[in-house]
Amino acid sequence: MDMDLKSLESWIFKELHIDLSAYKSNQMNRRLTNFITRSGTTSVNEYIKLMDKNPELKQKLKDFITINVSEFFRNKELFAEFEKKVREVFLKDNKKLKIWSAACSNGAEPYSVAMILDRLTPNVRHTIIATDIDATILETAKKGEYNPNDIKNVDSNALSKYFTKIGDKYAISPDIKSRVQFKKHDLIRDPYEKGFDIILCRNVVIYFTAEIKDKLYRQFSESLNPGGILFVGATESIYNYSQFGFDKASTFIYQKKG
Ligand SMILES: C[S@@+](CC[C@H](N)C(=O)[O-])C[C@H]1O[C@@H](n2cnc3c(N)ncnc32)[C@H](O)[C@@H]1O
Repeated sequence: MDMDLKSLESWIFKELHIDLSAYKSNQMNRRLTNFITRSGTTSVNEYIKLMDKNPELKQKLKDFITINVSEFFRNKELFAEFEKKVREVFLKDNKKLKIWSAACSNGAEPYSVAMILDRLTPNVRHTIIATDIDATILETAKKGEYNPNDIKNVDSNALSKYFTKIGDKYAISPDIKSRVQFKKHDLIRDPYEKGFDIILCRNVVIYFTAEIKDKLYRQFSESLNPGGILFVGATESIYNYSQFGFDKASTFIYQKKG
């Protein structure tokens, strides 16, 4: 089998606007090789020709590269810790917060945050921006319909308050939906907005090279207000956090020095 991954990489950059040089190359090459092998085609070029004719195959490869799995309150115990920190750090004066869920996938993450804040500050309308590189997954997020597996960490009170069961799907309430603004954003190529109190960036940097990770953490730090917090994924401890002007606030939560 011809595994001309370099030409696939250029095609991905040109057609999907994803820069694979930012992703860990051994891991990505292994995954791409498996993907092409499993597709039943005999070469990378044959698969490229098929994708040029079939947008569905193009999307399939994009989904595969970006791995957009998510769920509500992913790592439940860490979300409990996150809620505790939000309460400690921000909620003394009913301040209106600006929050960014970066690489938000199907929206389960920003909607989890909206539910927490609705519970903590029912009368405050915070700004929650949720971004992802993948326009298709953002459409899914805006639709806000979930499978039973996505909501397994939602407790029964929240389930009855914030979801309506429609067939075998769970639809998020229009109120929670209206609290989140979804936008397309590439963490590697696009500029970062500033003035955030809270940033969540979970389960995406694991695919990036060390240099890109450092660049992202520096930019997150610049995007946060002093005292703002960054909540990362359960395998994504930042060992060099002080380099970016953070203190460690909890196992997977970093606070920008005030
Ligand atoms: C595994 S999901 C994480 C979803 C959510 N944060 C969570 O922890 O459940 C990774 C997401 O990162 C997005 N992604 C991958 N590369 C990206 C990039 N360069 N910029 C923005 N988002 C990216 C994917 O499209 C995918 O939706």
